[in-house]
Amino acid sequence: PWLLVIAALGGYLLGAIPFGLVLTRMAGLGDVRKIGSGNIGATNVLRTGNKPLALATLILDSGKGAAATLIALALLGPDAALAAAGGSVLGHLFPVWLGFKGGKGVATGLGVLLAADWRIGLAACAIWLVTAFLTRFSSLAALVAFAAAPVLSWFLATPELAGVTLFIAVLVFIRHKTNIARLLAGTEPKIGKKKDGAG
Ligand code: G3P
Repeated sequence: PWLLVIAALGGYLLGAIPFGLVLTRMAGLGDVRKIGSGNIGATNVLRTGNKPLALATLILDSGKGAAATLIALALLGPDAALAAAGGSVLGHLFPVWLGFKGGKGVATGLGVLLAADWRIGLAACAIWLVTAFLTRFSSLAALVAFAAAPVLSWFLATPELAGVTLFIAVLVFIRHKTNIARLLAGTEPKIGKKKDGAG
């Protein structure tokens, strides 16, 4: 079990790197936590108006989840890979460097899924893309994709992956509490809109 703890901890440390914050600072755009929804994810980086930076945030935040999973798989095996996967999402959501106030886990969670089982990962990305295209709500796309992911994992992969996917989905839903409230109130900003959301 201590191998699983090491894997989860390693995953946490990788996941805790706040790429959205680092990149917007490096680009001289200030603190991304002070604009839009205040989130450190790609959707909010896009609200700075810098599309390549948002894409880089998406790729790096996904990449750290995928990397954590694949490194643990190569070094410690499949159980450790799942521990690292969960750890990396926890790291992104609750990074020690930012007083445990991190992101919402969408990109990191998708990266984890792609690495853990590419079929589930691709399906979740496709569901995200279709929902985002149809509704223009990044948050709603994430909620639909992560609601589907544990079900898909259960039927197409292993109960273990379904368990970790459900864990990630619950975290994603909890972190989208304010988005859900805004979606219900009809005040959630659409993708690319710079309108303020506060939370
Ligand atoms: O990636 C998180 C997304 O689902 C919502 O982000 O900034 O609109 O709260 P945001």
